[in-house]
Amino acid sequence: MYLGLAVSAQLNDSDWLTARFSPRLPSPIPAAYNLPFLIRGPVKRIKAVYPGSFDPPTNGHLDLIERGSKIFDELVVAILRNLEKDPLFSVAERRNMLEAMTSGFDNVSVETFDGLTVEYAITVGASVVLRGIRAISDYEYELQMALMNRKLQPSLETVFMMPAEQYSYLSSRLVREVAQLGGNIDCLVPELVAQKVREKMDPALKFANVEQAEGKSPERKASKRKTRSRKKRS
Ligand code: PNS
Repeated sequence: MYLGLAVSAQLNDSDWLTARFSPRLPSPIPAAYNLPFLIRGPVKRIKAVYPGSFDPPTNGHLDLIERGSKIFDELVVAILRNLEKDPLFSVAERRNMLEAMTSGFDNVSVETFDGLTVEYAITVGASVVLRGIRAISDYEYELQMALMNRKLQPSLETVFMMPAEQYSYLSSRLVREVAQLGGNIDCLVPELVAQKVREKMDPALKFANVEQAEGKSPERKASKRKTRSRKKRS
């Protein structure tokens, strides 16, 4: 205990931050962190919900998820069901893509919800709603939504984060539009999403990919035909 007191007296502000955001870091002297716990009680884990339509998820979304995963203990990426009548991807497809994109983050999960974001956030025990702001043009809509959410549920805080500048022009709507008009979306979305978008635009690609995976590519078919005819002759 005396050792703990002596060491914690030497902790400066940045040590406090490290202790707060890395509670699982192996501590050389665990007692150093005991005193703050005794005074303030256990550190509260912060769970955030990142709601959106993600149709499709973009590199900008992924950038924000990565930033969110660094400052919150848990981050739930929450896909709104039935937002649009005619989405490009079904909710299940969006969920699959987001799960694949976030598989490297162990504190990020992907869920779906309907109804009010604030009600969903409270149901899952979140205290923060995370949203991205790319440019001033986003601000008005986001402010309106944040204030309405606060009116509905004062205990929830909205936290805005900015994605990297190179994504400041990027939106799901533009990705859909560029892809529909035959433009290249390769650097706008992760590769697995680009592939799925291409398949949506040209369903023949999907069958080509399935056939390729099953060894039914035109080349393979031709070589199989040759093998069969050789067998017949012999
Ligand atoms: O990615 P988007 O399309 O900008 O996400 C918008 C979303 C899903 C966050 C917003 O439409 C929403 O929260 N919808 C749920 C219904 C709701 O809570 N409406 C009141 C918001 S003030």
